[in-house]
Amino acid sequence: MSIKIAPSILAADFANLQRDIELVNKSEAHWFHIDIMDGVFVPNISFGMPVLQAITKHATKTIDVHLMIVDPDRYIKTFADLGANILTVHYEACTHLHRTLQAIKSEGMQAGVALNPHTNVSLLEDTIKDIDLVCLMSVNPGFGGQSFIENTYKKVSQLKEIINRNGASTKIEIDGGVTDKNAKLLVEAGADILVAGSYVFGAQNPTETIAGLIKLTN
Ligand code: DX5
Ligand code: ZN
Repeated sequence: MSIKIAPSILAADFANLQRDIELVNKSEAHWFHIDIMDGVFVPNISFGMPVLQAITKHATKTIDVHLMIVDPDRYIKTFADLGANILTVHYEACTHLHRTLQAIKSEGMQAGVALNPHTNVSLLEDTIKDIDLVCLMSVNPGFGGQSFIENTYKKVSQLKEIINRNGASTKIEIDGGVTDKNAKLLVEAGADILVAGSYVFGAQNPTETIAGLIKLTN
């Protein structure tokens, strides 16, 4: 099993952003998880294009952008130009999800779909083969540092079943409240990528914490 760890930059120290980016570069982490919030889709505003530009200037690993914004189609090209490798939109924010997925891919990015905790995985039955990554929200999106919602394990298993039944190669990412308490169970249920924000950057030694998560899940 090869789990991927994606530290969420939302929990980094923005006054020492370059330091924290270099920390992830040098760590065993696989991806950078970048949370973009617009204050409309979620009740919080994180950061936008200039900050992402500063991040991609230094980051040497895959850039996984999680858009928590309404009408994400407006910015697909912008995020491609800024260096996003994976662009994830919310199911709940897309009226024409299939069209949005095609637009993301036509810009050369992998296409992700995020589901809020209340959104049933069965809604992806008709698009699963077009989705590179499903991001299951294990907290209500908008803030780092929240508690993991236990119902997520069930959703991972259900989603895995849909992926296998359709012969899709979609990866499952878990986002929110990931710690050493749930990482192993999530991987056993079928998760491929774990996003971790406050658990990593709130630790005394983030580098060791990332390595610890990988060890725990292999
Ligand atoms: C929540 C964000 C998450 C968040 C995870 O809206 O999408 O990526 O940064 O942070 P933790 O790991 O602290 O829950
Ligand atoms: Zn996220």
